[in-house]
Amino acid sequence: MRYLLRGGLLMGETPADILVEEGKIKKIGNVSEGADEVIDIQGRFVLPGLVDPHAHAREPGQEHKETLDSLSEAAVRGGYTHVAVMPNTSPPIDTPELVRSILRRAEGLAVHIHVIGALTKGRKGGELVEVGLMKEAGVIALSDDGDWVTDASVMFNALTYAAYFNLPIITHAEVPELAGGFAHYDPITLKYGMKFRLSLAEELAVYRDGRLAQIAEAHLHVAHVSAAETLEIIRSLKNKGVKITAEVTPHHLLFSTERIPLHDPLFRVNPPIRSEKDRLALIDALKEGIIDFVATDHAPHSLYEKEAPISEAAAGIEGLETAFSALFTHLVKTGEISLKDLVRWMATEPGHFMGVSTAIEVGKEANLVVFDQDARWVPSEKDLASAGKNNPFLGKELCGRVILTFAKGKPVYQRR
Ligand code: DOR
Ligand code: ZN
Repeated sequence: MRYLLRGGLLMGETPADILVEEGKIKKIGNVSEGADEVIDIQGRFVLPGLVDPHAHAREPGQEHKETLDSLSEAAVRGGYTHVAVMPNTSPPIDTPELVRSILRRAEGLAVHIHVIGALTKGRKGGELVEVGLMKEAGVIALSDDGDWVTDASVMFNALTYAAYFNLPIITHAEVPELAGGFAHYDPITLKYGMKFRLSLAEELAVYRDGRLAQIAEAHLHVAHVSAAETLEIIRSLKNKGVKITAEVTPHHLLFSTERIPLHDPLFRVNPPIRSEKDRLALIDALKEGIIDFVATDHAPHSLYEKEAPISEAAAGIEGLETAFSALFTHLVKTGEISLKDLVRWMATEPGHFMGVSTAIEVGKEANLVVFDQDARWVPSEKDLASAGKNNPFLGKELCGRVILTFAKGKPVYQRR
């Protein structure tokens, strides 16, 4: 099968047709050959398929929130071609057999699925998983995401094994004693008498894990950084040559306590949305390279779990379908960052982290997205393929929209 994408703008700049044959990019430039299907994309941006290193597919065990199928559909709608799924499932993905079964389940899906294995058995923070066997089964990293590994000796042990097997460990950095509530601590939330998750919880956790990684010479990756103070710690460890990387979510980049309805359970997420000062520091940290890339932390929940008083609602924000448009609207269109940077942080860099090459080049499998940079749309529930509808961008106008996604060499989403 031959597909011709005619008239696109490669990386939003260079006019080029793209010919895809038997799943691979055959030609880029002026293509005169015919094709079985010619898709006219006049003047639209052609970008590498996006890579999400942190999403929750909820399989096995919580299929009422999401399945690998619904996650895959959500991903390709948002322009993602590679997604790594977290192991805080039921049961947790803590054995090589479970890793293999998820990878097998994912073979027929539109999107490439990568698996992050649990770090400890049952995610209980005690006994380590079989690190070498997990790697052999295909995990790209290990993490007890959702919870911090409180026992420092367990974390140190994990880091030494992970260093040996050359696997990153992803830390959900929140010391639980300082993260018992649900809100950022600042004068605004204090006024409303909310229960807190302090920035210090993140700062302390990153310091401990970063120092342990330094000693073990392991690669530590910090999930969803949210606080300005944490950035100082990451910067200092990076300056010392520690192998530490970090990610930030679209919601921490775009929302702050000054900008959201504080009691709305939709915005309940761990770590919490913090102050405007934190938000601006996160954007600067991306630009400076202290934060390496963007991850959605796509965390779908069902309505009944989310539509509850904030103190009882599930924590998490859904967002694969809207992540790129939201950041394009609020950071690229405003001139804060460039399109190139956004692509680097949402494809190239997370790709490096996951061992995925994202460059659009002749000979490679076609994983790419066509983005209508001039489209305007107001996302509604029907635009979400995810089973979770807990997306804070619903009802708010966005600029730019994914209109076509090629993944695994095929067109897997086309907006008609
Ligand atoms: O808010 C969150 N929800 N943070 C996490 O780390 C886990 C996630 C989930 O699994 O729902
Ligand atoms: Zn997560």
